[in-house]
Amino acid sequence: MVGSLVWNRDVISVLDFSKEDFEVLFSEALSMERYAKSKLDILGDKVLALAFFEPSTRTRLSFETAMLRLGGRVIGFSGAEATSMAKGENLADTIRMLDAYANAIVIRHSLEGAAKFAAEVAESPVINAGDGSQNHPTQAMLDLYTIWREFKVIDGLSIGILGDLRYARVVNSLVQALSYYRVRLHLISPELLRPRQELVEFMNSRGGIRYDWTNDPYNVISDLDVLYVVRIQKERFPDPMEYERIKGAYKVNLKLIEGGKPNLIILHPLPRIDEIDFAVDNTPQARYFKQAGFGVPLRMALLRLVLGGGS
Ligand code: NCD
Repeated sequence: MVGSLVWNRDVISVLDFSKEDFEVLFSEALSMERYAKSKLDILGDKVLALAFFEPSTRTRLSFETAMLRLGGRVIGFSGAEATSMAKGENLADTIRMLDAYANAIVIRHSLEGAAKFAAEVAESPVINAGDGSQNHPTQAMLDLYTIWREFKVIDGLSIGILGDLRYARVVNSLVQALSYYRVRLHLISPELLRPRQELVEFMNSRGGIRYDWTNDPYNVISDLDVLYVVRIQKERFPDPMEYERIKGAYKVNLKLIEGGKPNLIILHPLPRIDEIDFAVDNTPQARYFKQAGFGVPLRMALLRLVLGGGS
């Protein structure tokens, strides 16, 4: 365990953290793994508020599980319909209330910048669990943790990111987090889902990242250590017809991974729609369910660093 180190800060973007912070987080998460199915009673006096304005399964439940395993308690909601926002209350007032009740707030919202806004309103630490297409820092931390657990290093790896590079916030945060390491990045997507200009400019501004783009995973599969797959983000398309045209545009199947290195691993933040064939689940390369499982110790470590609690 990392002594009594406490961050006591917001978690809005991975860029608010350093590579050293990641190292502290990972070593803390490793020590939390043995408590992920039992209990470490260090946050017994703390309450965590979960404010989920958008759907979530893994992120919300792993935060909740993490808090319970640390002996703390959880309040909150999933979907604004059941809150006074349905009566017209604004986001700032809702956050002020949660701030008064809880020691930290985890927020997911469809609007970019919502978490940052909440952090400006709240005195308690605010953790961004996804805001629009912009950031999903705790997912990126989990993704990196999984890669680190599998390979023991991140520097030197060749990482392919396949899917909706335009709207997926997980891609944005993952690329930002990987910019702290010397990695080779292969971006793979249909033309329509190429990364947005901001992300391209970000990658160009960071010397560490060497990247290229292709629309065909077969072009790069033999070079990859990690294939990270993400679904098409249907709900973020301004024009539903555009989604209809592009859906089902890529699929990871046994034929594709046959062309990969023997130690290739496949990650996915989940939910999966149709972009990974079910047959892939039974291969040694499939690590996405293990990755989701690491969500509990990783978020236990994060909560401990943000909220403090015995060393
Ligand atoms: C991601 C999200 O919400 O951005 N889900 C998650 O937190 N595991 C990815 C997605 O929805 O595609």
